[in-house]
Amino acid sequence: MKGIKIVTIGGGSSYTPELVEGLIKRYDELPVRELWMVDIPEGKEKLNIVGNLAKRMVKKAGVPIEIHLTLDRREALRGADFVTTQLRVGLLDARALDERIPLKYGVIGQETNGPGGLFKALRTIPVILDICKDMEELCPDAWLINFSNPAGMVTEAILRYSNIKKAVGLCNVPIGMRMGVAKLLDVSPDRVHIDFAGLNHMVFGLDVYLDGEKVTDRVIDLITSGEKSNVTMSKIVDLGWEPDFIKGLGVLPCPYHRYYFQTQKMLEEELAAAKEKGTRAEVVKKLEAELFELYKDPNLAVKPPQLEKRGGAYYSDAACNLINSIYNDKRDIQPVNVRNNGAIVGIPDDSAVEVNCVITKEGPVPISVGELPVAVNGLVQQIKSFERVACKAAVTGDYRTALVAMTINPLLPSDTIAKQILDEMLEAHKPYLPQFFQEAQFS
Ligand code: G6P
Repeated sequence: MKGIKIVTIGGGSSYTPELVEGLIKRYDELPVRELWMVDIPEGKEKLNIVGNLAKRMVKKAGVPIEIHLTLDRREALRGADFVTTQLRVGLLDARALDERIPLKYGVIGQETNGPGGLFKALRTIPVILDICKDMEELCPDAWLINFSNPAGMVTEAILRYSNIKKAVGLCNVPIGMRMGVAKLLDVSPDRVHIDFAGLNHMVFGLDVYLDGEKVTDRVIDLITSGEKSNVTMSKIVDLGWEPDFIKGLGVLPCPYHRYYFQTQKMLEEELAAAKEKGTRAEVVKKLEAELFELYKDPNLAVKPPQLEKRGGAYYSDAACNLINSIYNDKRDIQPVNVRNNGAIVGIPDDSAVEVNCVITKEGPVPISVGELPVAVNGLVQQIKSFERVACKAAVTGDYRTALVAMTINPLLPSDTIAKQILDEMLEAHKPYLPQFFQEAQFS
């Protein structure tokens, strides 16, 4: 048997040891022969550190996975079966700007929401579309599994602006919610099932089941009974929820909904945090430095537990589960970002949604949801409009399109402030946004 070839673009990421751990754990079912870790010259040192740890991990585990480290993406992609993308254009410094600049204007500064999310999309989408072009040529049958943020918009762009059809976007929010709910119910996560539907970082748990029995109301009581909801991610402050609101809503919000339903309070929290300990990117920079120090230790041959302090914990577990289920045609249910294909009524068939899917050898098949509850449908539609316009701006580099995207985002208070933020952020990110700064072309 040929064995599987996986290529990880952004291989020098601090998250990679989790991916390697996931592949080792599943080796019997998922015989990976080659893992190619690709990075850019600026990431070479990190790639070497993480790559060497990966080599020690497979050696210690005694599995014959070959680890290849390279800066040559095209060399790596040739003949791949699965390509995973986990890249950050402009590195954490760019994220810090995404978080800090909007705050100056009294607007949420966040990696994937509001102006920060828009700019991360503008920087990331062209790079991902380039990877898609390389894949068409070098590994046309491979699956593209993207975890680069903003994962929803990146998936939308792949579906609309590339020829890669075998593409899936992945996020750890659903898995995190399931684990949080399991903890609240004091049961193991495999007994909990949640009907997820919505968009990335805008996903709702429509119903929750424990051993097949509906427990949505019980879970809603639990998340609204104290000062904290206890279903959050460590990096998103848990302000609790207004009980009557969530009970009225009747569905489980995701942690990112706080930016929309608790905007003022979240902004105050962000402003205070930015002053006291720095924005999340600035905190993560320190965490990363610590992680890489650990990774350098030649005696370390397992994923260190400190990695779980990062918001993306369990990402790679989700990725390995997905790859495993595609490869083995498992037909289990996993929440992923895919082409809607009518699953959520009211969202275009060719747009990306985050929804439970049956994972088959032919890819994820979205499970039909019908209409979303009326109270959340409007916000989801608005965010989808924002995402589509943002993708168009990323591809065309058109200033007005970018301004429209920024202004229609629900976190922006006005067109004037949207324009001021847009202008400042375009200038700040200029090196990573060539599409907006090309000389006028005359034909
Ligand atoms: C959450 C989100 C991810 C994001 C991560 C960032 O898990 O779902 O999309 O990448 O947080 O975590 P960080 O530690 O970088 O803030």
